[in-house]
Amino acid sequence: MERKFDKVVALAKARGFVFPSSEIYGGLGSINDYGPLGVELKNNIKKAWWDFMLSHRNIVGLDSGILMHPKIWEASGHVAGFSDPLVDCKKCKSRFRADHLLESLGIKPDFSPGSKIDMKKLACPECGGELTDIRQFNLMFKTFIGPVESEANQIYLRPETAQGIYVNFLNVKESMRLKVPFGIAQIGKAFRNEITPGNFIFRMREFEQMEMQYFVEEKESMQAFKDWRELRREWYLSLGMNEKNLRFREHESDELAHYAKAAIDIEYNFGFSENESFKELEGIHHRGTWDLSRHQEYSGQKLTVKDEENKDYLPTVVETSIGADRAFLAFMLEAYTEIEGGRSTTTESNKEKEVVLKLHPKLAPIKIAILPLSKKENLSAKAESVYAELSKHYRVQYDETGSIGKRYRRQDEIGTPYCLTVDFDTLENNKVTVRDRDTMKQDLVDIAELEAYFLEKFNF
Ligand code: GAP
Repeated sequence: MERKFDKVVALAKARGFVFPSSEIYGGLGSINDYGPLGVELKNNIKKAWWDFMLSHRNIVGLDSGILMHPKIWEASGHVAGFSDPLVDCKKCKSRFRADHLLESLGIKPDFSPGSKIDMKKLACPECGGELTDIRQFNLMFKTFIGPVESEANQIYLRPETAQGIYVNFLNVKESMRLKVPFGIAQIGKAFRNEITPGNFIFRMREFEQMEMQYFVEEKESMQAFKDWRELRREWYLSLGMNEKNLRFREHESDELAHYAKAAIDIEYNFGFSENESFKELEGIHHRGTWDLSRHQEYSGQKLTVKDEENKDYLPTVVETSIGADRAFLAFMLEAYTEIEGGRSTTTESNKEKEVVLKLHPKLAPIKIAILPLSKKENLSAKAESVYAELSKHYRVQYDETGSIGKRYRRQDEIGTPYCLTVDFDTLENNKVTVRDRDTMKQDLVDIAELEAYFLEKFNF
């Protein structure tokens, strides 16, 4: 049976959500482009996240550079430690992440000194060939700043947005006259030269993160960690996620970084395979004072703030970090619904399988479709004037080709919450029919009242 995941990938390409990058040149490993509907959906997800974060009184925004001082990545530990264990097949030259390979064989990856795991004893899953020893492979993309391509001018494309927040911590605090606790939110591109990218937009080499670093006194930090866990859960549910498809996985103590007190992965039921259903969508991390203390050490600049007794201290950080692309995939999967036998009553669509993308109206790329019943001039003129008015406020699509049943189904497939038909009665009574994507309920609405009607519908 075809997986829901494969159906969503096919729909995404066919209906202009996601295209493989550089496709006419054969594509470029795990980079994807967002098409006309994809960019709308992704922007809506980012806006929903941004509005949610900035609606907290003590959270402010930031947009820092993708290119940053190379010492930042020494301080953060990325130069020394942001690597994946890699093995190659000597025969077919396939390349694998050693930890993924072991996990797929049911072996807990353990690369600590003294570990008994010998990759050479395992066979290549592709051809059965012999595997090499494990090598560590740094995931950061390198480039050069300025005209000279020398080691002294080497810099990195950021592998996460969070470091831009840490190094601006004092700038933000002082310019905005903030007091701890406060948070800084940022949305932006990140780059990782992943060894085994894949699963469509789940793991890419160029992707987008939505990260928020919350700076808090140590004594309040565990409460903040719990609060953010709950707040993030509510965010997903408020956008239509079914709780049964979310899992909050606490990190075991041996998974935690030495400076971290707690970490949770919010996992989504992506359903890549039977034994690979829940995968990480977001991380909530208690990072202690690690990042600020490292930047203080490497920059030589004091990054402390004063407590009530006027003593200097470094705030503790609680981070929430979610990939915009993974959120996109999760919301698409969540919304994808097939109705066997169809639900329309028109003869031609009877018994056909219908696809409805039940996206939350806030996320839907197109909010309203305008469907004139015929291409007759007087109907088109009326429909176009409705389009002109509504498109001032909403993303609206005008579609006059094909039967009305087919047009409804095209809109259902891309998740449009409301379809508005203009028919010959409209010319007499100035009323249009508005059909709800999920309930199929139809309302007859006076054109003069459309603005108020949709204001109420999109009031979230
Ligand atoms: N600042 C913390 C941090 O970057 P992470 O777990 O490495 O933590 C956070 O990444 C989130 O970024 C992940 O939960 C995931 O949603 C997203 N992400 C990470 N690598 C990704 C990739 N290669 N492609 C798409 N999204 C990715």
